[in-house]
Amino acid sequence: MENFEPTIIAFVCNWCTYTAADLAGTSRLFYPKNIRLIRVMCTGMVDPQYIIKAFLEGADSVLISGCHPGDCHYINGNYKARRRIKLLKEILPQFGFDPQRLRLTWIGASDGIQFAEIMRDLTLQMKALGPSQTKLKMVI
Ligand code: FES
Repeated sequence: MENFEPTIIAFVCNWCTYTAADLAGTSRLFYPKNIRLIRVMCTGMVDPQYIIKAFLEGADSVLISGCHPGDCHYINGNYKARRRIKLLKEILPQFGFDPQRLRLTWIGASDGIQFAEIMRDLTLQMKALGPSQTKLKMVI
């Protein structure tokens, strides 16, 4: 288990978190290679089916990250995302998913340092949790 490297799928908003990831990269800030970024135009377009599919196909964690409340470029997409994630976290255990593996954050375009910190923190948290049971069930 000590060599476990989690796979983390991150749906990131084009306008804020993706830009922060780009800034982290150009600033040469370290963050783990475990993160797979999926660039979306807004967190409001992340359908819960995408999240479930990511878990079923082997993600150990799914992160949704976008503009801070009030800064969404599509007015209220991030508020919709926040409501969806809250509901999803409540029903995930009924389907055998651990809600701790789903995270929602707000990372602004100029927050490259925060982006790298959150990615390091999430990776450490997933290493401590171990492989997703959903993934293990699929392998068996
Ligand atoms: S445009 Fe970034 S969360 Fe909506």
